[in-house]
Amino acid sequence: MSKLQIIDLWVKVEDKVILKGVNLEMNTGEMHVIMGPNGTGKSTLASTIMGHYKYQVIQGQILLDGEDVLQMSVDERSRKGLFLAMQYPAEITGVTNSDFIKTAMETRLEENEHISLFKFIKSLETATKELKMNSNLPHRYVNVGFSGGEKKRNEILQMKMLKPKFAVLDEIDSGLDVDALRIVGENVNDMKSDSFGALVITHYERLLDYIKPDFVHVLMGGKIVKSGKNELVEKIDRDGYDWLKLELGMVDEEPIRTVTSLGTCAVNPNNKVK
Ligand SMILES: Nc1ncnc2c1ncn2[C@@H]1O[C@H](COP(=O)(O)OP(=O)(O)OP(=O)(O)O)[C@@H](O)[C@H]1O
Ligand SMILES: [Mg+2]
Repeated sequence: MSKLQIIDLWVKVEDKVILKGVNLEMNTGEMHVIMGPNGTGKSTLASTIMGHYKYQVIQGQILLDGEDVLQMSVDERSRKGLFLAMQYPAEITGVTNSDFIKTAMETRLEENEHISLFKFIKSLETATKELKMNSNLPHRYVNVGFSGGEKKRNEILQMKMLKPKFAVLDEIDSGLDVDALRIVGENVNDMKSDSFGALVITHYERLLDYIKPDFVHVLMGGKIVKSGKNELVEKIDRDGYDWLKLELGMVDEEPIRTVTSLGTCAVNPNNKVK
């Protein structure tokens, strides 16, 4: 079993502090879900776990089995078993999907190990079929010209092949049709084991018909403000987040009073707790 710990994590992006003390602990064998209003820092958390250079950690720790993840390069994080399926997957012209996946797998091997080409092709074919992807997609350039839904499935294809310990799945359900949603959800859920856990970022309950969460967290104002189980997802789906803001005495991000260009003080009408 492996453990991923996020301890009092503060992160800034371009001089704006986005995460303000995130605490989260997960083990393999667990599915954690993060929900939260737009712009509250969910993707920031995902990118920081993976080591995106734009996200600067100003305080706190990320530990993978006790090892300091923040000292690791992106490559090393991947080799140690972290994986990120991005909200907006990047296109890589000139590199085929299968070469991309094979290279990523090879970097995980010891010096004298190698991947049998036959086994690699077989497992790539199997994973492609399990995701009901078009069989030519692995042989095309990574995500180039892929539809929105194909890009999302492709992230899951990479995940299935790389078999990480922890996968962070950032809105993997956005843009998927109902059948694709089921296929992707089931494929992720099937990976759950003593050696795999996922942090699933989503806005909607429907993905969770297929990925059964063990823990649900709400990220708001740069912090995890509430954790619970499925009933929390149902409540958010039904009632949104205003009740939680009210419970926590939070106001929206913009200040209640703003100084106008004329130097007067105006009350922001959009910024009252409803
Ligand atoms: N690279 C960046 N440059 C500037 N601002 C950024 C950058 N990344 C994130 N931000 C800002 O940080 C805040 C949090 O963004 P983030 O993408 O983490 O939100 P989110 O919770 O994932 O939202 P959504 O639900 O819309 O995906 C936003 O105000 C966003 O504009
Ligand atoms: Mg996001």
